[in-house]
Amino acid sequence: METKTSINDVSAPGNSILETGTENSRLEGQLPSGENIVTSNEEPFECDLRRLAKPQSDEISLTAAPIIEVIDVKKSYFLGGVEVPILHDINLKVQEGEFLAIMGPSGSGKSTLMNLIGFLDRPTEGKIIIKGLDINKLSDKEVARLRGLEIGFIFQTFNLIPRLTALENVELPTYANSRSGVNTHERAKELLRLVGLEDRMHHKPGELSGGQSQRVAIARALINDPAILLADEPTGNLDSKTGCEILNIFKKLNEDGRTIVMITHDPEIAGYADRIVFLKDGIIQSNAE
Ligand SMILES: Nc1ncnc2c1ncn2[C@@H]1O[C@H](COP(=O)(O)OP(=O)(O)O)[C@@H](O)[C@H]1O
Ligand SMILES: [Mg+2]
Repeated sequence: METKTSINDVSAPGNSILETGTENSRLEGQLPSGENIVTSNEEPFECDLRRLAKPQSDEISLTAAPIIEVIDVKKSYFLGGVEVPILHDINLKVQEGEFLAIMGPSGSGKSTLMNLIGFLDRPTEGKIIIKGLDINKLSDKEVARLRGLEIGFIFQTFNLIPRLTALENVELPTYANSRSGVNTHERAKELLRLVGLEDRMHHKPGELSGGQSQRVAIARALINDPAILLADEPTGNLDSKTGCEILNIFKKLNEDGRTIVMITHDPEIAGYADRIVFLKDGIIQSNAE
């Protein structure tokens, strides 16, 4: 029987999803051949990297709860001893398999909120719960492992390491965290093939276009098969055609069951999501539902 995670499991690392990665045993199986995410416009998306969307009936289901919960969160920065509030009483739930856009003008606190959801920063007040795990109850080491395995980040500026090849960039996160039983080198190659970069694997970022760089970043974000993709203005540095290709990749990954939270200031881009949450001056205005 598979092990499911509860908050209590965190104190017993040997019995934790963070250690065993039992949800991801399919990664040991065959990856698809002859398909890729980029050129499948006319064909159905058939990526075997899909997540198992539904829990087995004999498991204690935590997946019925939201995959992301932001509860009464406040975030302030302290500048010269003065508190500068950035986020005020944020409450947000994201269900597993959702494609959510967080939209708001520049300076509204979108990146701050994404960093909190991605455990890159801790809230001043309130709780962030990912897959039932409360960041406030985790050690820094547990937070790092949860982030490394369950969250894939995609940034506006791609954030690739210039001196590493595309393949090395995709493999890089696995040096810190990886799932047991996965051949990360083969998986990195397969992901690059899936995003249409088979022939660019050994190129460095300086030899890649913006769209190619963002596709490398998407492959990197997927390397540990995270439950959640967090994308902060992922098309902000791309022309609209290339941006559209990137959004289509997100759409297909989401159709395949992966939860996506995308930040944007652009209503057209937010329109790709299933649900839009509006953020203004650090306050959620509405969730369009
Ligand atoms: N590390 C920081 N220290 C102080 N202020 C910050 C920091 N990061 C962001 N801010 C401020 O918080 C506000 C929200 O920033 P941000 O979350 O980046 O907004 P957005 O992504 O919506 O443009 C801005 O006024 C910004 O200047
Ligand atoms: Mg931002």
